[in-house]
Amino acid sequence: MYTQSFNVPDDAGDAKTARLKAVPGPVDAAEAALQAHFDTVIDADHKVEPRDWMPEAYRKTLVRQISQHAHSEIVGMLPEGNWISRAPSLKRKAILIAKVQDEGGHGLYLYSAAETLGTSRDQMLDGLHSGKAKYSSIFNYPTLNWADVGVIGWLVDGAAIMNQIPLCRCSYGPYARAMIRVCKEESFHQRQGYEALLVMMQGTAEQKAMVQDAVNRYWWKCLAMFGPPDADSPNSVQGMRWGIKRISNDDLRQKFVDATVPQAEVLGVTLPDPDLKWNEARGHYDYGQIDWDEFWATVNGNGPMNKERLATRVKAHEQGAWVRDAALAHARKQQQRQQKEAA
Ligand code: 3HC
Repeated sequence: MYTQSFNVPDDAGDAKTARLKAVPGPVDAAEAALQAHFDTVIDADHKVEPRDWMPEAYRKTLVRQISQHAHSEIVGMLPEGNWISRAPSLKRKAILIAKVQDEGGHGLYLYSAAETLGTSRDQMLDGLHSGKAKYSSIFNYPTLNWADVGVIGWLVDGAAIMNQIPLCRCSYGPYARAMIRVCKEESFHQRQGYEALLVMMQGTAEQKAMVQDAVNRYWWKCLAMFGPPDADSPNSVQGMRWGIKRISNDDLRQKFVDATVPQAEVLGVTLPDPDLKWNEARGHYDYGQIDWDEFWATVNGNGPMNKERLATRVKAHEQGAWVRDAALAHARKQQQRQQKEAA
């Protein structure tokens, strides 16, 4: 459904890129030359690598976005992880374990990509555990029944892929390369969710009602996942100028709605939006108002599950201290042995 061949328009000439957020200029002639070279690389759509000079604001933006993304993958293991022990069959359990494990792997690639920018994993984890760092709003809602697991695959992973495929072309090399594998795995996640729901929709009336209920609870939250409307998105314009973001929040949201409506029809569920209808003139579906107050309350720590999610992550980190200590002790011993042998 969402593949690597997804067509990503190049937005270089978009009017939105004209509204650049002010970033500090070069301090001297040497820095001006470095900045000019950096701008040439960005304009030519080439990759920036860790060894290359880059403006501090570019570095900061990448650390912000990549670490938030990594935290989202790690916190995102929790809502579905809760269902591993309650999956309805061995096959579903095996699929769910693989999926949750993949999300953990995505978090690790992304922390590694952010580390190439000079920020340590400990610093990033401190940000998450202290509640200072953001992670995706969507993981602060509960998973109440098995249909929620299918809907997370279909809609949450579907929205995530829509946002992430353009990131495979991000200007920062390590992030772009990490996203290629992430997107391939997310594509499997989306399909397994949709397939699980297709099976439930051929089941009993209770199963069908569970699917509809899960769609009703998750639909609007998935639309909000793409971030605030473009006009209220402080980071978008500069992010697009730097080739970090390729498609705006609103354009991705629209692509997601357009792709999902026919899938809902095949599935036999109703998307909970009375204003959802095809607009012939625009060539897109119109949709209703997203509750941005609820979105910001959740982003700012006051969603239904924020406190529980953070407490679970902090506990897991604390209880995993012995594993980190053991790994470090093993590395030290190995180093000492190698030094002895070399002496
Ligand atoms: N949840 C929480 N915070 C969000 C958000 C969301 N859904 N959408 C936007 N925000 C935050 C931004 O991080 C930014 O915060 P900051 O300036 O304090 O750091 C603020 O709201 C304003 O938003 P902007 O649109 O100006 O911010 P960006 O230009 O960074 O765009 C983004 C936001 C589209 C999420 C972008 O950062 C992005 O594409 N990130 C990478 C992908 C990502 O992180 N996805 C998260 C989901 S991953 C996932 O779902 C796991 C999978 O396994 C399912």
